[in-house]
Amino acid sequence: TRDKMPPVKGDILVHAVESKEGQPIRMADLSEKLVRAWPMGKDEDGNSIIRKGDPNNILAVYRFPKGQIQAPTNLEATVEGEIVVYSDVCTHAGCSVADDDQRAGAMKCPCHSGQYDPKQGCKVIGGPPPRPLAQLPVRLDGENLVVGDFFLQNPYPFNEAEWEARK
Ligand code: FES
Repeated sequence: TRDKMPPVKGDILVHAVESKEGQPIRMADLSEKLVRAWPMGKDEDGNSIIRKGDPNNILAVYRFPKGQIQAPTNLEATVEGEIVVYSDVCTHAGCSVADDDQRAGAMKCPCHSGQYDPKQGCKVIGGPPPRPLAQLPVRLDGENLVVGDFFLQNPYPFNEAEWEARK
């Protein structure tokens, strides 16, 4: 069903946190603190549907001051080099990655302390993850943050075949 589909080009990013679930994410909501998001698309009847049926669809959204986001982040896939979106599924064993409380602007996985740098393509900067968090291309459409394309890297920790089939 469509709530289980991975992010589709044109999907709107909406808040995932329970108190705001389904509300479109606005520029003003974003900062160097992680904002969790779901992609929201349309069902068969044209009604909005949050794609939260697959936990692999959970996303991490950040906004950094201009100039801070660097390679290997794909800057073309950010909004003006300021807003960047990644899969929030740890590439080690699939836990949802959070902000690193000890280190501003870095991410830390609560399961086995994997660390990632969201300003540098979410490269691994500590712990066991085998590869970066996958970057999701986004763009601004009016006030909405929308999916520009599919993930640039494999977002599925356990499923190379699914990635091979989708990319
Ligand atoms: Fe994230 Fe193990 S699941 S470090």
